[in-house]
Amino acid sequence: MPSLVVVGAQWGDEGKGKVTDLLAERADAVIRFQGGNNAGHTIIRGDEEPWKLHLIPSGILHPGKLCVIGNGVVIDPRVLTEEIDALRARGVDMGGLRVSANAHLIMPYHLLLDSAGEQKLGEQQIGTTRRGIGPCYADKAARLGIRVQDLLDEKILKQKIAAAMEPKRLALRPHAKDPSLDLHAMTEQYLTYGHRLEQHIADTSRLVWDLLDAGRLVIFEGAQGALLDIDHGTYPFVTSSNPVSAAACIGAGIGPKDIDEVWGITKAYATRVGSGPFPTELHDSLGDRLRSAGGEYGTTTGRARRVGWLDLVALRYASRINSLTALVVTKLDVLSGLDRLLVCTRYRGAEGAEFDHFPYHQSVLHHASAEYVELEGWSEDLSECRSAADLPAAARDYLAYIAEMLGVPVALVSVGPGQDQVIWTGQGAAERLAVAT
Ligand code: GDP
Ligand code: IMO
Ligand code: MG
Repeated sequence: MPSLVVVGAQWGDEGKGKVTDLLAERADAVIRFQGGNNAGHTIIRGDEEPWKLHLIPSGILHPGKLCVIGNGVVIDPRVLTEEIDALRARGVDMGGLRVSANAHLIMPYHLLLDSAGEQKLGEQQIGTTRRGIGPCYADKAARLGIRVQDLLDEKILKQKIAAAMEPKRLALRPHAKDPSLDLHAMTEQYLTYGHRLEQHIADTSRLVWDLLDAGRLVIFEGAQGALLDIDHGTYPFVTSSNPVSAAACIGAGIGPKDIDEVWGITKAYATRVGSGPFPTELHDSLGDRLRSAGGEYGTTTGRARRVGWLDLVALRYASRINSLTALVVTKLDVLSGLDRLLVCTRYRGAEGAEFDHFPYHQSVLHHASAEYVELEGWSEDLSECRSAADLPAAARDYLAYIAEMLGVPVALVSVGPGQDQVIWTGQGAAERLAVAT
């Protein structure tokens, strides 16, 4: 029953889309289990226009694979139908797409409330993607959510929308004249989405279980990253779901014993979009250089990503809360041309205390500064390297240092955005899962 969870081990955008697409070649199914269209997963195939996926699993480019949007995902049906249309227009077969009937829907009022919430916070704002993610998960917890299955019954849909909007009347008053908030129009619009999506709606938990039971390889594709987790991340500067591996169980409807492997994806440095603590952030020209070399601009919002050195305190924490069995280090190519590389191995608090472990206290974290060890850099272009032996010794040492400090093997290294720009190290469970090429 091989199953592998792909999770972001940092603040998102680690390259989960690329890795999932790569693994999907050998898998039978790919399941998204949390988040929504705040995610932007990029796949680069040859000279083709980049594929940018927000809701549809990154296995969709492989014909015949089951691609599931699980119950833990929040779905904006406008975005989903547009994404289906855009992929179809490029010749992608959508026959394998299945959408959980239990997934919650992002409604027009969620988008307005997300933006209004951010505006109210002013300088304290989280820097959300303003896709309505937080308000949708809030309604789910408040049991006021509208689910995919509700799209198939006009009466229930209308009743539920009315009930969900009632407690929001005050907050939505400034938008009273917004036509998207009209109960009748909204119901009609969402029924239309229901008709469009009906052929894809399914009991996805059972579909996944059947594949696992038949011993097929199933990939669970995380969105965001460990430090954006609502329970374990840098709260309140987090997303509203759990991007950690355990959420694959809840968000897909399987039990913890059904997970075999958890691969944490990390860049060879660090980035973050939006506000919140980032102890290794670079505010200087070196940061600009890495941003430009790494193309660090958001897939979803186009915002410039904040950039910094690799943070092993945060990564060790991510490894622990995810039970990582292997690491994938992406964007190693971006570090070429630097004489020396800094890697954060501990934090120092405002009062001088040292932290080897990720501090749980918000105030400590907000004032923590990074302490570094210095490692040797390399000047060679790595983009053509295809085996560990092709890498300069300093790059191999850099990877070995990360693996040793985390106690987790590096299974895969990425040296460029292209699908073929990878190095299988022969470590981790690549062989056992028969995914190594
Ligand atoms: P995700 O959200 O984790 O799927 O990551 P994104 O797609 O948002 O961001 C990762 C970006 O880095 C994308 O533009 C990828 O094409 C690109 N990328 C992935 N791996 C590598 C790599 O090894 N080197 C370089 N230079 N770019 C990469
Ligand atoms: P992928 O899957 C990077 C960040 C936002 C913001 C915070 C909360 O592509 O790695 P939200 O809209 O979720 O309420 O915003 O989370 N964020 C991401 N950052 N990658 C993502 O997804 C993200 N999804 C949300 O920038 O700081
Ligand atoms: Mg992304």
